[in-house]
Amino acid sequence: MANPGKGTFLITGGLGYIGSHTVVEMLLRNYNVVVIDNLSNSSELVLDRIAAICGRKPVFYPIDLCDRSSLEDLFATEKDLQAVIHFAALKAVGESVENPLLYYKNNLISLINLLDCMVSHSVHNLVFSSSCTVYGEPDTLPVTEKSPIKQAISPYGNTKQIGEEIIKDTTQSTQLRSIALRYFNPVGAHSSGKLGELPLGKPNNLVPLITQTAVGIFPFLRVFGNDYATPDGTCIRDYIHVEDVAIAHASACERLLSGNGKDYEVFNIGTGTGYSVLEVVKAFEQASGLTLPIQVENRRPGDIEKVFADTSLSNQILGWKASRSLSEMMRSAWVWQQSLNNKE
Ligand code: NAD
Ligand code: UFG
Repeated sequence: MANPGKGTFLITGGLGYIGSHTVVEMLLRNYNVVVIDNLSNSSELVLDRIAAICGRKPVFYPIDLCDRSSLEDLFATEKDLQAVIHFAALKAVGESVENPLLYYKNNLISLINLLDCMVSHSVHNLVFSSSCTVYGEPDTLPVTEKSPIKQAISPYGNTKQIGEEIIKDTTQSTQLRSIALRYFNPVGAHSSGKLGELPLGKPNNLVPLITQTAVGIFPFLRVFGNDYATPDGTCIRDYIHVEDVAIAHASACERLLSGNGKDYEVFNIGTGTGYSVLEVVKAFEQASGLTLPIQVENRRPGDIEKVFADTSLSNQILGWKASRSLSEMMRSAWVWQQSLNNKE
């Protein structure tokens, strides 16, 4: 049921992994939420999972953001939108190399349609899902928001760089105000055990591959390279609990609505700590009590050796700080995987 005293947020891609956790966070804060998702990488059943946690569902429109006239209709119908959180995008790095036009079309046309509708319907606040992929292989660590943007390694990464530029330019010529959040590696699942990542097909990312190996879907985890210049030879990333990422969106929305800050701002969303692939495997083994079979293989093309965030800007300006440990990330991912398996 709509909550008249609170704002209404449009969340695109709101049935996906990070989007659904953010929908839950916003509903639990008593905001009204409208979701757009074309279900290309999610399922309408996620609405039931959200309701099981929050006691209510968001308003849902099963539309494609590339369909300009349906988007216009939505903005004409939903007249009270105060802000948009834009998650909807395709995100598989390898697929983007094989089919770049699919990625440029989906990720950029949807963004341009959205911005056009926001400007013409006077919706002035936007939070954008960007990625630490924009930093490429950094020269110095940790990376700050001022670290250089490197040549994108994939068309997917390029859509994030171009997306940031399009939004920045739009904020300079219209009343739009925007915050781009550069996430590092979101992992884990909701602490309720009722919501998590539902990758369609074979996952590409480390944590779902670990949990699916643990339940026997794969015979072993392939560790891509142990000859990097890191303490144990495996790559280092800044893994962050998806619930901490969701909370960062609430903080960003609240900053935009407060009217504070510049028209366009960028924040790193990580924990500030890097863990190697083998450290993540060990944390999973401790959380699950299992021994994970692994096999060391060649390096994966395009992998960055090490990257982790300087989060002082988001800590100070957004008043946000990641609080969940690697062990909580692994435990929640494992609880979620087991709940999926029990249903099969
Ligand atoms: P996801 O695939 O789980 O969610 C994206 C959702 O958007 C899906 O439900 C999909 O059906 C929907 N969607 C895609 N194209 C659409 C379109 N044209 N119209 C309507 N809906 C559309 O992905 P996620 O992991 O939740 O990622 C969310 C955002 O965060 C993406 O923009 C992604 O690029 C970015 N990001 C993700 C990660 C990560 O590791 N998961 C890291 C950095 C940035
Ligand atoms: N890895 C393995 N074995 C696997 C899968 C991954 O060893 O089976 C390793 C990778 O080599 C890497 C680390 O685990 O060192 C993390 O890999 P992920 O694929 O989980 O994450 P990435 O850091 O490569 O990429 C993620 C998102 C991208 C995004 C990037 C930066 O998947 O979409 O973060 O934001 F661009």
